[in-house]
Amino acid sequence: MVQLEISIGGLRLKNPVMTASGTFGHGTEFAELYDINRLGAVVTKTITPLPRAGNPPPRMAETPSGMLNAVGLQNGGLEEFLKNKAPFLRRLKTAVVVSISAGGPAEFADMALAVETSGCADALELNLSCPNVLHGAVKNMISQDCGAIEAVVSAVRKKCGLAAIAKLSPNVTDITKTALAAQNAGADAVCLINTLPAMSVDLKTRKPRLANITGGLSGPAIKPVALKLVWDAVRALDIPVIACGGITTAEDALEFILCGATAVEVGTANLTNPFAAPEILSGMERWLRENKIASLDELRGKLIA
Ligand SMILES: Cc1cc2nc3c(=O)[nH]c(=O)nc-3n(C[C@H](O)[C@H](O)[C@H](O)COP(=O)(O)O)c2cc1C
Repeated sequence: MVQLEISIGGLRLKNPVMTASGTFGHGTEFAELYDINRLGAVVTKTITPLPRAGNPPPRMAETPSGMLNAVGLQNGGLEEFLKNKAPFLRRLKTAVVVSISAGGPAEFADMALAVETSGCADALELNLSCPNVLHGAVKNMISQDCGAIEAVVSAVRKKCGLAAIAKLSPNVTDITKTALAAQNAGADAVCLINTLPAMSVDLKTRKPRLANITGGLSGPAIKPVALKLVWDAVRALDIPVIACGGITTAEDALEFILCGATAVEVGTANLTNPFAAPEILSGMERWLRENKIASLDELRGKLIA
């Protein structure tokens, strides 16, 4: 038996394999394929206070070693979530992390309280970093502004007792500044990274491949970027860093653990192989057994550098 348990704030997860928001729906479709309770945690698609139609199609495009998406936080809103998604989530026998996004600190805090009160979540992921939505007239992200990060995290912290994970953008000059802002405001963990703003062009039609023109790059192409940012953040923070970005195999996941990540989130890989997350979990267990490592703690942060 290898020891895979991890903690995020006061929350214990049976293993470090989580799903990445927006690539796993609310888990219902995957639950038809395998027992999703095997996973350390299910992270749900980001919900917003009101329903959002998202961006017009096409919203996805393949790129070398990855994909672009500009879904634009399409979701049915908080009320629909509580009515239709929460009952399924409440029945799960693994940790549920509900991803939320909102226009500002007060709205985030209200969402957090409503989700906590519904009893369907063990933790919240605060999506501070969606590249495909407009905040007012300009495209900006909460997670590019340390003051805004602090305001949102501390507002949530004041109103809600659930563990809070701040999901941050890679698109900053210094990830340690934004990650520390989240930590100082009371986040229990940070999740790195959301997608990288990017675009793809079709020379034949002379048009962008996404109707939104730009989108977020994900998949294996971004893993080296994510590794670097996780490595930077781990050395600056006292709270856990949850790694996300291009994790497709058990070896990918273990590389992030070696760089100090506490847990991993599997994203785009779910879209190409619906069994990716449990396969990564089994592969990690196998690798640890074969290498006679009894606990992930023996590997975590042990990069020889
Ligand atoms: C189709 C799609 C939808 C996504 N939707 C969300 C979302 O709703 N909330 C969020 O925080 N991240 C969202 N993401 C970002 C992923 O959770 C993840 O941070 C990113 O894709 C990098 O991980 P990956 O390379 O393993 O996919 C989405 C990604 C994809 C590909």
